[in-house]
Amino acid sequence: MKIGIDKLAFATTPYYLTMEDLAQGRGEDPNKYLIGIGQDRQAVVPPTQDVVTLAAAAGEKLLTNEERDQVSTIIVATESGIDNSKATAIYVKRLLKLNDFTRAVEIKEACYSATAAIQFARGLVALKPQEKVLVIASDVARYGLNTGGEVTQGAGAVAMLITANPRVLAIEETSVAYAKDVMDFWRPLYSEEAMVDGKYSTNVYIDFFKQTWTRYQQLTGQTLADFTALAFHLPFTKMGKKALEAELGERDDTIATRMRANLKAEQAACRQVGNLYTGSLYLGLMSLLVNGDVQPGERIGLFSYGSGSEGEFYAGILQSGYQAGLGDLSEQLAARKRVDLATYEKNFNAQLGLKEEDVTFETPTDGQRFILAGQKNHQRQYVDLNED
Ligand code: CAA
Repeated sequence: MKIGIDKLAFATTPYYLTMEDLAQGRGEDPNKYLIGIGQDRQAVVPPTQDVVTLAAAAGEKLLTNEERDQVSTIIVATESGIDNSKATAIYVKRLLKLNDFTRAVEIKEACYSATAAIQFARGLVALKPQEKVLVIASDVARYGLNTGGEVTQGAGAVAMLITANPRVLAIEETSVAYAKDVMDFWRPLYSEEAMVDGKYSTNVYIDFFKQTWTRYQQLTGQTLADFTALAFHLPFTKMGKKALEAELGERDDTIATRMRANLKAEQAACRQVGNLYTGSLYLGLMSLLVNGDVQPGERIGLFSYGSGSEGEFYAGILQSGYQAGLGDLSEQLAARKRVDLATYEKNFNAQLGLKEEDVTFETPTDGQRFILAGQKNHQRQYVDLNED
C-alpha cells in the first residue's frame, strides 16, 4: 500500500521586510544577505499572529469540510510552541473545527520534528489505512534584533494530509535517521530568542547530511542518478547550496545540472519567506513541485535537519495528481505587504512573548482570519474573526 503526502497547504503572515532594507539598517552590504545568505525577503510577524494562528490558517486552506470530519489525528510540529504543557494542536483543532474524537498532540525536535510527525503518521495509516492524519509544521524563527541570525528569521506553517494512496508523494520504506547531542542551536525556557553557534551549526548540518545520505545509498544501492531532485531543510537558501555542493563537488554532468536547477526551484519560496524552522523543508518541497523540472514517477530525496541534533534522509515517488494537492503558493506570496525596518522592529517588540499580565491587542484589519486577540488570566485568547 502506498502511504504519503496527499495534499500540502502553506500560510504565512501578511507582511514582509526586504533584505535590502535590513542590510541598510544593519550597516551590511545587501549582497551579503541577497547572495551570501541567499535571502530576498522575510516574513514579519504582527503580535496577533503566532504558531497557533499560522497553523490554523494553513490547516484551513488544506482541508475540505469532508476531510475535516475524517482527520483521526492532528500532530503539530513546532519548536516555538506557546505553552510548556498544553499542546498547540488542541487550540488548532478547535479553530479548525475538527471532530472531538480526534487525537491531538504537539511534537518537538527543532527543525526536524515535522519529519518525525510524517513518519509517525505513516505508521498510523499503515495500521489503519482509512485514517487521515493532519501534520502541521508551524514556527516563528526569532533570533533577535541586530544579531547574526536576524537575517535568517522567518515565519509560517505548512499543513499536510498523510493518507493511503496519496496524490502528491508516496513515501518509500527506507529512511535513515541520525541523532547526536550537539549544542549548535537551542532555546532555554526563559528565552524568547534562539541561541545559536551559527558557523558550527552549518558544519553540523552538512555532516548530518553526509552521514544520512551515505548510509541511505548503502542500504538502497541508489545513487544521485536515481533522483530527480534532493530537497533540503532551508534555514536560509545558501545552506541547501552548501550541502548539495558538498555532494556534487566538481561534477558538471546532466545529473549535477538537474540537481542544481531543481535546488533553485526549491529555494524560490524560501527566499521570499525566510526560515520556517520545521516547515522549511516542506515549503521547499512545495516550491520545488511548483517551480521545478519534476515528473510523476520520479524520486525526490528529502533531507531534514533539526539542531540539537537530528537528521533524516528519506525519499518519495511523485504521484500523477500532484499539482492538485499544492494550492496557490505564488499568489499567496505576491499578496503580502511590504513594511519598513521601523515597522518590523515595532512588531518584533510588540509580541506577547513571556509577558505575564493581561494584554488586549487591537483587532487587525489585515485579512487574517485566525488571530491572537491577547492574554487573559494567563490564557492566550484565540479568535476566529469569521465567527466572533
Ligand atoms: N557579497 C556576497 N557574499 C558575501 C558578502 C558580500 N558583500 N559578504 C559576505 N558574504 C558571504 C560570506 O562569504 C559567507 O558565505 P559562505 O557561507 O559561503 O562562506 C556568507 O555571506 C555569510 O557571511 P558570514 O559567514 O560572514 O555571515 P555571519 O557571520 O553573519 O553568519 C550565519 C551567517 C552563521 C548563517 C548566521 O546568519 C546564523 O547564525 N544563522 C542562524 C543559524 C542557522 O541558520 N544555521 C543553519 C544550520 S542549523 C539549522 O539548519 C537549524 C535551523 O533551522 C536553525
